[in-house]
Amino acid sequence: MEGEPFSWERVHPIFSWYHTGKVNMTYESVDRHVLNGKGEKTALHYISETENWSLTYRELQQEVSRWSNVLTASGVKKGDFVFVFLPKHPHCYIAMLAAINVGAVVGPLFEAFMEEAVRDRINDCEGEFLIADSSFLSRVHREEIPSLKTIFTTDKETGDADISITKEAEKADDEFETVWVDLEDGLNIHYTSGSTGKPKGIIHAHRNMIQQYQTGRWVLDLKDDDVYWCTAHPGWVTGTVYGVFAPLLNGVTTVIHGGRFSAEAWYQVLEKAQVTVWYSAPTAFRMLKAAGNKTLNKYDLSSLRHILSVGEPLNPEVIHWGVEALNLRIHDTWWMTETGAQLVANLPTRSIKPGSMGRPIPGIEVTVLDEGGEELPPFETGHLAIRASWPAIMKEVWKNEEKFKSYFPYGEEWYIAGDLAYLDEEGYVFFQGRSDDMINSAGERIGPFEVESKLLEHPAVKEAGVIGKPDPVRGEIVKAFVALNPNYKESKELLEEIRLFVRGRLAAHSAPREIEVIQELPKTQISGKVLRRELKKGEIDQAG
Ligand code: PRX
Repeated sequence: MEGEPFSWERVHPIFSWYHTGKVNMTYESVDRHVLNGKGEKTALHYISETENWSLTYRELQQEVSRWSNVLTASGVKKGDFVFVFLPKHPHCYIAMLAAINVGAVVGPLFEAFMEEAVRDRINDCEGEFLIADSSFLSRVHREEIPSLKTIFTTDKETGDADISITKEAEKADDEFETVWVDLEDGLNIHYTSGSTGKPKGIIHAHRNMIQQYQTGRWVLDLKDDDVYWCTAHPGWVTGTVYGVFAPLLNGVTTVIHGGRFSAEAWYQVLEKAQVTVWYSAPTAFRMLKAAGNKTLNKYDLSSLRHILSVGEPLNPEVIHWGVEALNLRIHDTWWMTETGAQLVANLPTRSIKPGSMGRPIPGIEVTVLDEGGEELPPFETGHLAIRASWPAIMKEVWKNEEKFKSYFPYGEEWYIAGDLAYLDEEGYVFFQGRSDDMINSAGERIGPFEVESKLLEHPAVKEAGVIGKPDPVRGEIVKAFVALNPNYKESKELLEEIRLFVRGRLAAHSAPREIEVIQELPKTQISGKVLRRELKKGEIDQAG
């Protein structure tokens, strides 16, 4: 009601579980719509260079049921981890929904992960099941992942995998009895980086759907006849939450397009699919801007009505480009893997202040704290803090209670994001950077520790320090400073070899774009830890 403060309970009645007591994210995202007469509506629309086809909600339900039957028959049970290592294709969506349907916790892996990134993640939570594209299997070294029981492939030929899930699905029943879970049960796991240690497994629960559905309505502004495209791969939390869950919970048509970025291909997707709501990231917008108006003007993008951005600072020039080139304002949104859904955003009905990420959405309270945990007045920069709790907050950090607690350094009242920000007098939030050494390159969160550890495994590298170097297109790029072992001489070839060493083991986005050799790295006197801050300061001073 008007005037009454919003409470998340008000959202509950839209879900089946509110009436039946039976919970499952897949049921609410797919089956509920079929039961409500939306079976013939397009759920997924796949567009690639060579393909263009759709699945209705009923067809999606049947396909998910068949895959669920195969998973159950193969021994996947409630609470098991099922990793999904697939390109951005309907198979990826079906695999994730099926894993959730059988009560498992799904772990989508980014398609560019190399062998050690894949291995470390599955090993950390002792994952037993993997659904993978056969062309990715060379990056899954089974003998190094002892917990892995069964590998499913989406190809009809089983090859190095154990089971062809698509072949088995053809023979499986297209009805499946949903495995009911609790709102608090595990839904998905995403590994994410901080400035120290290896990536941590952030586990989310089915209750997330409350906030994911509602932000889909408020922030993405999804309405019944929208055609929606989120450009992120589900290996990133945005691709899972706002690529799979939020649009399906809202029952709209979701566009799927994979592959590498190309301005032409992206504009083509927007035009062909008649996209109305589009969620992407500043680096992509900057790349589209760089591709120029001549490219843009070849396409009819008149279906677009709402554009959103996430993951990195949205600079005012990009908002101005949106207004000039597309005649639309780009709406910034802020959240993190750990928060499970958007918390700060520019709602379509509110005015935008370029340079600000927007204001907290209803039901969310945000403040800025100083080092002692005291609230700061407007325009003073400090730690961005969210009043705990909200429906989509992480359930746990896998086997790392201490890490979970580290998000609450000032007590249970405030969740500390690790971002620095200030608020203006109207409560608009202005992002000012990170309080730690985490790197954000093209919206991808890269932990310097993981990259440094990998660099140190190369025989030539004696010491390594990795930072984010400011970059006009990607926000930051990964830059490594290394000291070489005595028998090695700096050469272009050696540096390229070191770069490829990291790239081939972790992922392309983690590999340093620049490597600089220095005699000795700056370190703290007491612990001898590399002073990344000094390295970064030098880099920023140089750039002026
Ligand atoms: O530093 C903030 C930045 O990205 C971090 C979260 O990264 P990740 O968990 O990978 O994000 C997944 C979903 C967004 C934040 O701590 N970040 C996120 N959104 C913005 C942002 N920085 C500036 N502006 C944003 N809108």
